[in-house]
Amino acid sequence: MTSGAIDTDSFRQALGHFATGVTIVTTRGENGEYIGVTANSFNSVSMDPPLVLWSLDKRTHSLKIYETAEHFVVNVLAADQVSLSKRFATSGTKDKFRGVSFTEGVGGAPILAGCAAYFQCKKSFVYEGGDHLILVGEVVTFEASGRSGLVFHKGSYAVSQPHPVIGVTQTREEAGQDFVEEYLDYLLTQTAARFRSQFQVVLDEAGVHQFEWRITCCLAENHEGLTFERLRDMVLAEKNELSRLLRSMQDKAWITSGEDFAGETRYWIVKQGLDKIVPLIAAARAHEWDALGEFSAEEAKQFKDNLKGLLQWVNSGEYKPAHLVPDDSKDEGQR
Ligand SMILES: Cc1cc2nc3c(=O)[nH]c(=O)nc-3n(C[C@H](O)[C@H](O)[C@H](O)COP(=O)(O)O)c2cc1C
Repeated sequence: MTSGAIDTDSFRQALGHFATGVTIVTTRGENGEYIGVTANSFNSVSMDPPLVLWSLDKRTHSLKIYETAEHFVVNVLAADQVSLSKRFATSGTKDKFRGVSFTEGVGGAPILAGCAAYFQCKKSFVYEGGDHLILVGEVVTFEASGRSGLVFHKGSYAVSQPHPVIGVTQTREEAGQDFVEEYLDYLLTQTAARFRSQFQVVLDEAGVHQFEWRITCCLAENHEGLTFERLRDMVLAEKNELSRLLRSMQDKAWITSGEDFAGETRYWIVKQGLDKIVPLIAAARAHEWDALGEFSAEEAKQFKDNLKGLLQWVNSGEYKPAHLVPDDSKDEGQR
């Protein structure tokens, strides 16, 4: 669509070059309903009085409610809140707040848990802005958590990183500060190593090798059997080691193998193997329960969902470590 000489899609794409944060602006309707939309049009206006603004698409389902509401809360999303952003950007979703933790702020507007910051506002002015309304709010109270904010740039979610030019001006001490303990590889490896070594005690008692445990678990939930390559992929064992273990497990009659209809060798778990691992699976569940007991059920689920999401993402063809391998391929080109 064009407006005069301006092509809307190119206009939107050009605007996307302006990196923004991401917010969810919430309010509460007259009938008590909670409302929220993802918005990156948020901006500061004035320090004294403290004013902020954002703009709302007139096609938004909740337009009327924002027009009549006297208050709104701008929730500035933290870098780990992409799924929340997507949920509140899905137009027409019936109950965007289902399962979302929040407390009520000014006028009952939801303050979402885990955000980088929030600004509770009294609506001061509403201006016409073409196909959007511009809502200006006076900040009545605010809080910043210190969490890093989520970034939206060229149609994609991103995280902010210190610019490399800043990096070279850092001292050696500054450059290394907080790196290791915040580094994903360190966090994943340390957690996995501690967690595994605790469970190793149970495996040792049962006389089950770490890889035997992984292999039997994978086979137990794949009734149609698994090929050597698939197993290797799942248990991350070295080729010769996996062959040796599979032979020894067949000797112990825990597993069996045979050709499938395509002539490929597959491995299956048999009763003796299942008898061996069923009690271990129960022990593993209890161990996991203990370890995650530190968190609420919701946090634990979110944590696992995040890990699953991360694993799927890094395994997907879409994932390109752009900072390691420069790539110019384009993104969805949202707002
Ligand atoms: C990153 C991002 C930023 C957005 N910014 C805005 C915005 O500033 N204003 C707006 O009206 N919609 C914005 N949207 C779209 C709305 O979030 C979306 O249309 C919303 O679901 C409408 O809510 P509704 O269910 O009440 O129609 C944005 C979406 C995304 C993904």
